[in-house]
This record gives sequence, C-alpha cells and structure tokens, in this order.
Amino acid sequence: MVSQRSVGRKDKPVTDFPILGGKRILLVIAGGIAAYKSLVLIRRLREHGALVRVILTPAGERFVTPLSVAALSEDKVYQELFSLTDESEMGHIRLSRAADLVVVAPATADLLAKMAAGLADDLASTALLATDKPILVAPAMNALMWEHPATQTNIGILTGRGVRRIGPNAGELACGESGPGRMAEPEEILGAIVSHFEMAAPDRGPLPLSGRRALVTSGPTIEPIDPVRYITNRSSGRQGHAIARALARLGAQTILVTGPTAEPEPPGVQVIRIETAMQMLAACQGALPADIVVCAAAVADWRVKGIADHKLKKDKGETPLLELVENPDILATLSRPGPHRPGLVVGFAAETQHVVEHAIRKLARKGCDWIVANDVGAGTGTFGGDRNTVHILRACHGGEPTVEDWPELSKVSVGERLAVAISDHVLAGASRS
Ligand code: C5P
Repeated sequence: MVSQRSVGRKDKPVTDFPILGGKRILLVIAGGIAAYKSLVLIRRLREHGALVRVILTPAGERFVTPLSVAALSEDKVYQELFSLTDESEMGHIRLSRAADLVVVAPATADLLAKMAAGLADDLASTALLATDKPILVAPAMNALMWEHPATQTNIGILTGRGVRRIGPNAGELACGESGPGRMAEPEEILGAIVSHFEMAAPDRGPLPLSGRRALVTSGPTIEPIDPVRYITNRSSGRQGHAIARALARLGAQTILVTGPTAEPEPPGVQVIRIETAMQMLAACQGALPADIVVCAAAVADWRVKGIADHKLKKDKGETPLLELVENPDILATLSRPGPHRPGLVVGFAAETQHVVEHAIRKLARKGCDWIVANDVGAGTGTFGGDRNTVHILRACHGGEPTVEDWPELSKVSVGERLAVAISDHVLAGASRS
C-alpha cells in the first residue's frame, strides 16, 4: 500500500537553512553527559555552513575530547583562561565578541549560576560575561537541580537579561531519575539558532510564504450540555499553535482558529477563539480564501442535541440521557472540490494502533492532500506532552500515497518542519505554473 518511505536520514539534514551560512557561533560546552549531543550540534551547524568555535570547560572535557570537538568544528578548541598562546592568538575578549551568537550547551546548573551572578573565574564564564552578543542556553541537569528555586531564580534573572533558552525537556535522565532536565535535542537547538537569526535579520527579504494565506485549527472544541457542563477532550493545542507560529514565521498571513487552550497566542498570528465545532466551522469558512489549511484541532465528533437552557438538576430522581448529534467534519468540508478549495489541505490523524494504515484510509475519506499521522496510544504522552512522532502521508493522484516517517521531535520542531515542507510544496507548485 505504501509506495515510498524515507526513514530518518542520518547523513543529510532534512531541511536546508541557508540563513546559517557564514554565521559565527561560539559554542560553550560545559560538563554534563549531554555534551555528546553538542558534537552532533557542531556537525549539523557545519553542514549548514555555520562557523563553529568551541570553548570546552574542564568538566566538559571529562565527557567529550578536545580532539573530537576540534575535528568536527574544524577549528582550535579553547580551554584555558590564562593560556599564553590563546591570549596572543585570540584573547578571551575577542573570542567572546567575534561571534554572531553564543550558545551554551549543555548549560549546567553551575554555569547558569555563574552567569546569573556575573562570576568570571574561568574561560567560559569570562567569555560569557565579556560578550556583547546574544546568548542561547540549553540547560541540562538532574530534575531536582532544575526545579530548585536557586536554578529557577538564576534562569529568571538570565531570561530577564535577554538570554534565550531552549529546553530542558522532560524524560529519562542520565542519573536514572526522570523529569525535566534532559538537554534539548541537537535538532531543536539548531531550530532555535535558526529562529534567532531569522528574527534578528535586519532585512529579512521576501520570506518563502510571503503573500500566502494560511488557516490553522487547533485545540479541542467544547460542546455544552447545559450552561455549566460540557463535553470535551484532552487536546492541549500545542501542536496546532506551533504550526501556526511556524507558518507565520515563514511569512504566511496566518489565521489560527482555536478552541480553549492554555497555550500562549503565537506572535504574528491572527487568533480567533471559538468553543464549539459549529463555531469553528463558521470561523474557518469566514477566514477563506486560503492557500494553505492545516486542521490540527481535535474537533468533538458529537454535540448534545437540545442543550438545556438551565442547569440540569439531579433531584428529579432521573439520570438524564444525552442525545448526541454528529458534528460537521471541518477538514472534509474544507477539502471539498470547488473553485474556493485551498491549494493544500492538511489533516491530522491521531491513532492508537495501525497508525499509517488508518491514516491512509483517512486521507481518502476526508479528501485532503496530506495527513500528519501520530500515535496517541497509551504511554506515548502525545496528548498534553511536548513531543510527537509523526508520519507524513501525501496523496498521490492516480497512485498510492507516499509516507515519510519523521523521528521523535518536539511539537515545536514538528511545526517548523511541517511549515518548511508546506512552503517547499507551495513554491514547487508556483514554479510549475
Ligand atoms: O476523523 P478524525 O477526527 O480522526 O480526523 C482527524 C482530522 O479531522 C483532524 O485533522 C481534525 O482536525 C479533523 N476534523 C475536523 N472536523 C471534525 C473532526 C475531525 O476538522 N468534526
């Protein structure tokens, strides 16, 4: 049934980030087991044309060797504050300034504390104090250390000074415990670096989706039973919001129609808040025409027929029976052929088993162009969590759909990659016509 699968390519970056070409990154590797991931980060940055210069702390050297760092960065590794050679060739002040961005990965509790306090007793802390360049930190530590008020205060101080942060993620930690403290994956740190340069670019030029209109649905819908009760689901809206943000960042004029969520409004996106599926459909239809539609909302399949206009009381001695009626299928409605059909309609398929097989059938049933299929079965933590493992199915007119498996990523990274895939598709269509 499946005509093509491209499983996590290791030798080649999935997307290209020309914005990284020639950018100078000063990477500070402090002492933590996650330091090995920084080697991958160096490789990724180099693949995209960035120039990487590394400060390796003495503790960092316990986890990765200067030789590996030098080989991957293709540069000298800086380790000593009072090294005569380093001072004559490149003093610590110049080292800290001759960069476009300083990245600290892993950022240990100790180094974060030094940064917050302004200590400068080794090369890393001195360079971080002396720099006039933006700083991005990727914390990595034990969960209790991360949650400790001292670390949280330090992070608050640093964020207040404009230091940007990526992670930490929750999960299994090297110490055997679990919780927040895992350093963000190299791909996520790379995404944060790219996003920094995209935001900072003084002349961003025409972005790939400039002039395109995108509509994204997100979050749950809530279907009232009476004035105080309702039926809903566990959707956090995190994935849909991340997609809207990523599309807007690529230049699309983006409208986000969302059910109630605790997610912050994505910058640069027009947000329309609704509660019910009927309201979501009306808001989506009102937002057309659009070039791109992504339906990531978990729309309730049913609503209550005859919503009570007063609170149902239990003192009547009867248990009320709720009669349900089917909600309209927004994705299928927007996918219907016609003069106003958006050029690309993307749906989601949350499945608990036979994920790809069910998604292939859904692609045909809904009439959309792509389906992003994800496993939400018990133990995957997708609902409400930060991470997602998805498969991208693309309808192939007259043939079987293609399936691309993506590795486990943060929802933010899934949003970014999906937006890039959408923009590649839209631009390829534009160049054909
Ligand atoms: O049928 P199912 O709910 O599994 O399909 C999921 C996809 O369909 C998602 O993209 C979701 O946003 C969309 N959907 C919709 N309207 C509905 C039900 C689902 O747009 N009533």
